[in-house]
Amino acid sequence: MITPELPQLPFPRRDVLDIAPLYRTLQDTAPISPVRTPAGDVAWLVTRHAEAKALFADPRLGRSHPNPSQAARISGAALLGGPIGDPATEVADHSRMRRLLTPAFSARRMHALEAHVADMVEDLLDQLAERTPPADLHEALSFPLPVLVICELLGVPYADRDRFRVWSSGAAGLTDRAAASAALGKLVAYMHELIARKRVEPGEDVISDLIAAQNQSHYGDQQMAGLAAGLLFAGHETTVARIDYGTLLLLTYPDQRDALCHDPALVDSAVEEILRMAAPSGGGLPRYARADIDIAGVTIRTGDAVLLAGAAANRDPAAFPDPDRFDITRNPNPHLAFGHGPRFCIGASLARLELHAVFAALPQRFPSLELTVPLDQLELRTDLLTGGVTALSVTW
Ligand code: HEM
Repeated sequence: MITPELPQLPFPRRDVLDIAPLYRTLQDTAPISPVRTPAGDVAWLVTRHAEAKALFADPRLGRSHPNPSQAARISGAALLGGPIGDPATEVADHSRMRRLLTPAFSARRMHALEAHVADMVEDLLDQLAERTPPADLHEALSFPLPVLVICELLGVPYADRDRFRVWSSGAAGLTDRAAASAALGKLVAYMHELIARKRVEPGEDVISDLIAAQNQSHYGDQQMAGLAAGLLFAGHETTVARIDYGTLLLLTYPDQRDALCHDPALVDSAVEEILRMAAPSGGGLPRYARADIDIAGVTIRTGDAVLLAGAAANRDPAAFPDPDRFDITRNPNPHLAFGHGPRFCIGASLARLELHAVFAALPQRFPSLELTVPLDQLELRTDLLTGGVTALSVTW
């Protein structure tokens, strides 16, 4: 690609709830457009719903690259900043990973967790109610809940949370790749130890299940530790940011908050709308073309990097009438917040369960909740892969 002046990611945006206006321009003029990544390389950015959905499911795109040192990098992130895996075995490795992990999120297990998650939310809200306002909802609810839940699911002692909080957000760091790799290494080492302990003393948890399935899966301990660290990471900051965003959206659109208060049955569609609108970070995860792909008037060449901009696709007017309107009754709502196709988020049902528990309880318990800081003064974290806000000061 010849690349004089390409749009530079991350694109500027007006406030944390808005998506970058440049996404809309690209949707209209160049829905699959070359852009400059934060790492300074060139990638194709896909902004329309139809093409993003098609490419999410396209087997000609993968995470690996035949010449990783030549591959365009997206960022300095230790995780997902560039290619991963071996092109020769990627498809088989991926289906083995899904086979091993999918049972951990079975409908039965999720159902068993449901009442427990609702209790965790009640406890956190009780503790919040005891504070004198203002308080930081991020610290009081959005952060602890997904950590409690993932600890419970994986069988990680909650007492260790402060240690892996540092590693998990360290591993999501975009600015210092060596520091991010070191943090990820610590998270994996921690999981390694935990696996050794669970081998001796198994529990009712996913890590114990993974150990039990280890012989069939042919995973070594190091690979298992990587998998467990990946789950802890994938299931944690992503959900934290959606709780913050859901709260921000409901507080910014009081008519929608009141509607949810009056009709709690709207919580399911409210959660889907929160997932659609939440855009805590600009980026998508990198994919690389395994073959030439002709789509929407462009040819993506073998080896090119491709970013599927879910945040833009989720506000594509061709898929969502009045796309910037937060409408908790929106139906249908075919958002791509969890991706689509073979890599569809494994933890989607868990994330939905957590968001459901939060937004069923929060508006009822705190009907007078308000932000103490105007929206345009909230800053997004651009130094983390997962984005999001660092604090959410509220009063009631
Ligand atoms: C609201 C919270 C969440 C959001 C928005 C989210 C989003 C996503 C997205 C968009 C993908 C697909 C990435 C791609 O195709 O490039 C994905 C994959 C994945 N997610 Fe989530 N996720 C969330 C919560 C979770 C949770 C709670 C877990 C587990 C505890 C989890 C585990 C995973 C895993 C393991 C994958 C990789 C699937 C694969 O490559 O086949 N996620 N997630």
